[in-house]
Amino acid sequence: MRVLVVGSGAREHSIVLALAQDPQVTALACAPGNAGTVAVAEQRGLDVGDPAAVAALALDWEADLVVIGAEAPLVAGVADAVRAAGVACFGPTAEAARIEGSKTFAKDVMAAAGGRTPPPEIVDNPARLDAALARFTPPYVVKDDGLAAGKGVVVSPDLDVARAHAMTLLDGGHPVLLESFLDGPEVSLFCLVDGETVVPLLPAQDFKRVGDDDCGPNTGGMGAYAPLPWAPAGLVDELVSDVVAPVAAEMVRRGTPFSGLLYAGLALTSQGPAVVEFNCRFGDPETQVVLALLRSSLARALHATATGALAAEPPLQWADGAAVTVVVAAEGYPGPPRLGDVISGAEADGVLHAGTRRRDDGAVVSGGGRVLSVVGTGADLQAAHDDAYRRLEGVHLAGSHHRTDIALKAIRGEIAAPA
Ligand code: GLY
Repeated sequence: MRVLVVGSGAREHSIVLALAQDPQVTALACAPGNAGTVAVAEQRGLDVGDPAAVAALALDWEADLVVIGAEAPLVAGVADAVRAAGVACFGPTAEAARIEGSKTFAKDVMAAAGGRTPPPEIVDNPARLDAALARFTPPYVVKDDGLAAGKGVVVSPDLDVARAHAMTLLDGGHPVLLESFLDGPEVSLFCLVDGETVVPLLPAQDFKRVGDDDCGPNTGGMGAYAPLPWAPAGLVDELVSDVVAPVAAEMVRRGTPFSGLLYAGLALTSQGPAVVEFNCRFGDPETQVVLALLRSSLARALHATATGALAAEPPLQWADGAAVTVVVAAEGYPGPPRLGDVISGAEADGVLHAGTRRRDDGAVVSGGGRVLSVVGTGADLQAAHDDAYRRLEGVHLAGSHHRTDIALKAIRGEIAAPA
C-alpha cells in the first residue's frame, strides 16, 4: 500500500513512523513533512489547506491511501477532494468535520445524541457579553466557536481574563461560547469511526497548560501518557456506548456520516462522564503515546476505516506497558516563539519532530512553537516516564522549555475517577 500522510507535526511524524514499520506499506510520503519525517518518508512540498493541490498530489504520487493529520484541511474539504479524485482518504468530509470546526454544531449533535455536555451560552454581540458572563461562576470557560489551533479556549477564575479573551474573539468576528467548568480528570479517547462502527484506541491524558501543576496559559499540548492506570475497568466501553457511538449514529442520521478519527475530549465528573469537546482528527501529543503502543497494522486499520470496512476488522492489538511524551517548546511559546535556533540530539530514537526544518548547511533548527515531542516507553508508567525524561536530556535547544511533571500525578496515585 502506498500511503501519503498530509501534515508536518509530531502527530504526523508519529503516524509516519508507525506506517514505516508496517509490512503492509510499500511506499510512504509525507507532505510537507518536517526535518524528522524526511528520514523515513519521501517529502513533498504542499499547501495542506488547498483541496485541489492535495488531490493532485495523491494522484501524481499514485497513493492508495491519504491520511490527513490536522483539522484545518479537513474543515476546508481536503478529504472530499481526495475522495472525489478516486483515492481512499482517512479523514471526514468537510460537513462531518464541523464536529470540530463549529462548537455550536457539535453541541447540537451532542444534544440530539443525548450526551452530557454543558449547555453553552453563545454570544455574538459584545453588548451582551457582560450580562452573559454574570450568569456563570468561576472558573469561567470561554471558547472560540471555530478553529483556533489550540488557542481558542480560556479557563480562568479571573473574570477580567475571561472577558478580555471573549472580547478578542468577538473583535475578530468570532462568536463565543460560555460554559460551566467541568471538574474531574480528563480523558482523550480516540476512536476509529466508519459510519456507526466505532473502534476505540487506548485512552490517554494530555497536559494543555504550559507550566507544571497546570499553571499558565493553554497550549496545543505539552505532554501526554497512555494508558490510564487509574481508569476503572470498563471505562472505555462505557464511553463508547454512552458518548461516541450515539454521536456517530446521530451523524449518520443527519446524512453526514463520520469517517476517520473521532476524538472525544471528556471530563469524568462526579455526575458522570461529560464531553469537553469533539475533534475530527488524531490529537497531538496523545497520538505519539497511543501509536507507540499499537501492535496491529496502522495502515490496515486506517484503510479499512477509509473504505467502509472497519466492522470486519480484527480487534486491535496493543503492547503491554505504557508510553509518555514530553513536548519541547521554543522560547516564548505559547506566545510568538523564537525560531531558527539549532537543535542538537533531534535525530535520536524517540524524538519526534514538530516545528523543525533542516537548514541548507544541514543543521536542524526550530521552526515553530512546539518543536519536538520526546517519547518514552516502559513496562509501566514510571518506567515510561523515566525513559522519556532520560531521552529528553540528550536534546538541546537554546531557550526551550518543557513540563517536568508529565504523568507524575498518575504515577503517584493522585488521580481517581469519581465512583
Ligand atoms: N491534545 C489536544 C488536541 O490535539 O487538540
